[in-house]
Amino acid sequence: GFGIGSLLKETGLVTLDSGFTNTASCTSAVTYIDGDAGVLRYRGYPIEQLAEKSTFVETSYLLIYGHLPSAAELSAFTERIQRHTLLHEDLKRFFDGFPRDAHPMPVLSSAVSALSTFYPNSLNPFDEEQVELSTIRLLAKLPTIAAYAHRKSLGQPLLYPDNRLGLVENFTRLAFGNPAEDYEIDPVMVKALDQLLVLHADHEQNCSTSTVRLVGSGQANLFASVSAGIHALSGPLHGGANSAVLDMLEAIRNSDDDVDTFMTKVKNKEKGVRLMGFGHRVYKNYDPRAAIVKKTADQILSGLGKRDELLDIAMRLEEIALHDDYFVERKLYPNVDFYTGLIYKAMGFPTKMFTVLFALGRLPGWIAQWREMINDPATKIGRPRQVYIGEGARDYTEIGAR
Ligand code: ACO
Repeated sequence: GFGIGSLLKETGLVTLDSGFTNTASCTSAVTYIDGDAGVLRYRGYPIEQLAEKSTFVETSYLLIYGHLPSAAELSAFTERIQRHTLLHEDLKRFFDGFPRDAHPMPVLSSAVSALSTFYPNSLNPFDEEQVELSTIRLLAKLPTIAAYAHRKSLGQPLLYPDNRLGLVENFTRLAFGNPAEDYEIDPVMVKALDQLLVLHADHEQNCSTSTVRLVGSGQANLFASVSAGIHALSGPLHGGANSAVLDMLEAIRNSDDDVDTFMTKVKNKEKGVRLMGFGHRVYKNYDPRAAIVKKTADQILSGLGKRDELLDIAMRLEEIALHDDYFVERKLYPNVDFYTGLIYKAMGFPTKMFTVLFALGRLPGWIAQWREMINDPATKIGRPRQVYIGEGARDYTEIGAR
């Protein structure tokens, strides 16, 4: 095996590494991050180039199959995804069962979990043909599910996908279209959303991806593993941060506090107040994704005609943080989600949907990592050790004697 693990095994010692700050759980050829230099590459390609030149569907192909597709490979892949966007009518009925104001994240993970019941042949993780089908089904159906979760929360009717449209076009139509009239695709919105999905597409062994791998290491199928990943993403320290940022900006705007007062609360760690959208386990330098998002946020907001006072608050917070010892010493910079919420809001998505959009973006990464894990002969079931700190052995006391 790999060095220290086998050494420790022989000596009977275990390492205690809470939060896995120094422990690798796998080898991977998917994504490279140099957190000190602020570098992110998918399959070797810099995120800046992919964000500028690629598309979400092409990037998904790259992550999953390891190379940029030829024109023929890309059109076959695109067409295959377009053919699988429909949800089974019985799955569609699930959306009636959830409460009207259901949060779309648990709706998303529940529906993905349910895919295993509609495709029982998907259960064997070593059946390559089925894994391929599950891959396509997930890529095609997650946007439909996400849009339906959104419509459901508004009490609006569910549209059928239009398979002549590309993935992001289809998604915006399903989310915002009206069955009584033609939906006019907004190319500015589609392009911006596509780029945001590319930026979120993978990030090596983050909390949700590690969850996907861990669940999959027990040989659970792709749907079960991805459903678990969606749950892991939902927390405010992970994917939930994008909606937490917007809640924070609105709270600042609506309160009597100015930006400086809020920052003082953060630095005093008042009731665990954090500057949401700041800090990262791996980046100790500007998150390269945040740099791209920041550059386009301004442009997109004005493109959509929605210059926002919340953007001014965000920029002011960043400005203070960049020159404040508390943040400088701890190397806290904006992460990808500091500015994304403002863009999602300008597009018309409610705050609750932001983390769902993150999930849509992260999906190809989860799939790529799950497939890498299942095909890696070195994979073992994930089973961390512990350091026991409980009671020593003691005898059972009968209930009357306690
Ligand atoms: N605001 C204020 N202080 C912070 C912040 C923050 N956003 N982030 C970290 N710190 C402080 C901590 O209080 C700690 O200070 P201390 O040394 O005085 O105790 C120090 O910086 C180190 O922080 P940790 O929590 O130990 O760092 P960790 O690597 O465990 O956490 C995390 C990383 C979870 C991202 C954290 O920075 C955070 O909570 N950020 C806000 C939530 C957020 O934006 N999450 C999105 C992450 S990226 C993503 O999933 C897309």
